[in-house]
Amino acid sequence: MKAVVTGATGVVGRYLLQHLVERGDWDILALSRRKPDIGGRYEHLAVDLLDPADCRQKLAGHRDVTHVFYTAFLQDPDPARHVRRNTAMLVNLVEAVEAVSPALVHVNLVEGTKWYGSHLGSFRTPAKEEHPRHGGTNFYFDQQDWLEARQRGKAWTWSAVRPHAVCGFSVGSPMNLALALAVYGTLCRELGESFSHPGPAANFHCLYQLTDSTLLANAMVWMATEPRCANQAFNVTNGDLIRWENLWPRLARFFGVESGPQRQFSLKSRFGDQGNAWREIVKKHGLQALRYEDIAGWGFADFVFGSTWDIVSDTGKARRFGFCEAVDSEEMLLALLDGFRRQRVIP
Ligand SMILES: NC(=O)c1ccc[n+]([C@@H]2O[C@H](COP(=O)([O-])OP(=O)(O)OC[C@H]3O[C@@H](n4cnc5c(N)ncnc54)[C@H](OP(=O)(O)O)[C@@H]3O)[C@@H](O)[C@H]2O)c1
Repeated sequence: MKAVVTGATGVVGRYLLQHLVERGDWDILALSRRKPDIGGRYEHLAVDLLDPADCRQKLAGHRDVTHVFYTAFLQDPDPARHVRRNTAMLVNLVEAVEAVSPALVHVNLVEGTKWYGSHLGSFRTPAKEEHPRHGGTNFYFDQQDWLEARQRGKAWTWSAVRPHAVCGFSVGSPMNLALALAVYGTLCRELGESFSHPGPAANFHCLYQLTDSTLLANAMVWMATEPRCANQAFNVTNGDLIRWENLWPRLARFFGVESGPQRQFSLKSRFGDQGNAWREIVKKHGLQALRYEDIAGWGFADFVFGSTWDIVSDTGKARRFGFCEAVDSEEMLLALLDGFRRQRVIP
């Protein structure tokens, strides 16, 4: 089996690349503009997925690609362009692989709980794969519609995975909750600020779900290679639920700070300009010199802590089809933070 892993430097793709490398039974082409920081046996192709000619040129000769894992993502402030560009990247890649590789058997696409409108307001929970689509635009709809249409009559099949709040390490990801929390807790301790949950009270008390990057990688490989999953979408989360009110004191203990009073404020407004403070912290504690903007995704953190409704997916379908892995979300988050500490990302 030979996999193309797009988005190989992202919070989803980086772990998928690592998982496939560790398995040892895959040949791997890792695609991203930056070079992934994962060791092991794979070939990296620096491809701009927005450029169809670049896709065709870099993939030329790779006649033996069997699986495509599509985890690339581009944030664009213009909503219409956001949809257009993210769809174009998928189209450019799949067309390039199809043109060159008669061996193609499967294309796996990463979507998310936003499929159900979780970002727009209160939605029907637990969200099931067959629930009707929300109104308005969503680039996942355009991507999946294109993929379904393209697949019709072909020998290859597709699948889609719908995780929520993917937690892992990656640099330069606009949506990395674990890393934003790590930077927030560190800044609170170093600047002597209270570690307050920054959202409205309802957010503190609502049900929420997380997805471990490693569990997600396992699920993606499972659904791409399990024939029963062909042409299906699956919710995949850790399988449990959290409330920030339960987790917050444990996070405070991890950072060695008092759990402050819950109060609503924007992390972006308060900490967006703290690059100099972060550089001082890096110097003081001998941390990895990562760019502040690349690890402090305040916009996404504000979004996560801004919702006032339950965010719950039903993951029964994946279990019924055979994927039964589960992770304790509180333990996962604390273990990840501990890993960031050991890797000298935070003190
Ligand atoms: N993060 C979450 O919490 C979360 C939750 C649910 C669903 N999802 C979905 O999961 C998917 C992946 O998200 P993510 O958070 O992993 O994204 P990410 O961390 O921002 O990674 C995006 C990846 O896409 C690559 N990329 C971007 N533009 C590219 C281009 N023009 N050419 C080639 N590669 C390009 C980036 O690599 P280079 O910059 O090195 O090129 C990077 O590896 C998205 O559809 C997202 O909506 C994410």
